[in-house]
Amino acid sequence: VQPADFNVALSKQATVGFDASWQSLALELPRLTLEVVAEVDSTNSELMRRARAKTLTPTLLVAQKQTAGRGRLGRSWQSDADFDRALTFSLGVPFAGTDLAGFSLAVGVCVAKCLHPALGLKWPNDIWLQDRKLAGVLIETAVIGQVRTVVIGIGVNLAQPQDLALAVPSAGLHELLPQINAPSALKRLATPLLRTVEHFSAQGFAAYQAEFERLDVLAGRVVTLGDGREGRAHGVNPRGALLVHTSEGEQVIESSQLSVRPVL
Ligand code: BTN
Repeated sequence: VQPADFNVALSKQATVGFDASWQSLALELPRLTLEVVAEVDSTNSELMRRARAKTLTPTLLVAQKQTAGRGRLGRSWQSDADFDRALTFSLGVPFAGTDLAGFSLAVGVCVAKCLHPALGLKWPNDIWLQDRKLAGVLIETAVIGQVRTVVIGIGVNLAQPQDLALAVPSAGLHELLPQINAPSALKRLATPLLRTVEHFSAQGFAAYQAEFERLDVLAGRVVTLGDGREGRAHGVNPRGALLVHTSEGEQVIESSQLSVRPVL
């Protein structure tokens, strides 16, 4: 059987690590095209280009290596180019809803729950293990004509990254699941992410707020905001904005605004 029969597009230049596990994963995802490439600038950038060119069908794009991986707030995202050490992918799908407020938090809930019960969420959507970052999420959208597309980019550390210069200490999923590799981690995430997009478009953030608050690692803690203010975090409002008590009163922090760190 040819790869096309599995609805999987394996990049021609890719040789290492493109084994049967990607093909069997593709078989389990009949509603999505699974595309695995050796290298791309950024899986988010590539799916956003396709969305803007109106050529995006529901796609999971996995890259072994990103040459210009992007994080939130204009940061870069670097990960190991090794499917035993990192999972780097984006999901691009149409979004039928009208309001995206809190969507990135709902995606974080899905990722944390599907990967391991020991994981928590650092607002808005970093996945944390014991005050260290294990995965990050970058969501972008494009509207072409009447169709809104969401591109959900996720980077998961499987092994703990060696780069000690990172601003936030990092963790790896191998600390909890020593055998997991990129295809098996994606298998846990792909269908639940698709369901999250569908469920969120119908229900909005209300359906996720309680679960977010259960996983919220900042709740009750003193946090520093990117502009130097300090306060105590106490959950999120119904639109997913972070609520912080400061000496100037309650602050409502929108996710695109600034970084928030707990005082460790
Ligand atoms: C963050 O923590 O700031 C978000 C990191 C998101 C990284 C992923 S890796 C796959 C996708 N492609 C990118 O360029 N970024 C996201």
